[in-house]
Amino acid sequence: MSFIWSEAYSLHIKEIDSQHRRWVELIGGLNQAIVAGRTEQDLVSIFDKIFDFTKLHFATEEKYFKEFGYEAADEHCAAHRAFIGRLNKLQDEVHENNKFQISLELAAMLEMWVAEHVLKADKKYEKCFHEHGLN
Ligand SMILES: [Fe+2]
Ligand SMILES: [Fe+2]
Repeated sequence: MSFIWSEAYSLHIKEIDSQHRRWVELIGGLNQAIVAGRTEQDLVSIFDKIFDFTKLHFATEEKYFKEFGYEAADEHCAAHRAFIGRLNKLQDEVHENNKFQISLELAAMLEMWVAEHVLKADKKYEKCFHEHGLN
């Protein structure tokens, strides 16, 4: 069940596509680390990296929303905030021993969220970004 990057996810915007690819790679790395039986501490540190990268990626998109006056920014930012809230809660739990363990289900949830968000929400700003010269 690994999330493989494909052209279907491309927004034809270099910076955004490369961030999306990196995001998918990080989540794939978490998946592999779980399968390889790495320690919980290793898994937590990969999770933390994914969370940091998620925040950086959302900040990149939101910077352009502002710059380009993207019309659906409010709705899109609300989806980002909701996911950050969910990851924040998970991060608190994984840092508290035994309260929550990083699992393949968690990695699958992250993969699914990212795939769906890119295909449904991010695709909607593709035209706006292109019109502002971002390719
Ligand atoms: Fe995105
Ligand atoms: Fe987004």
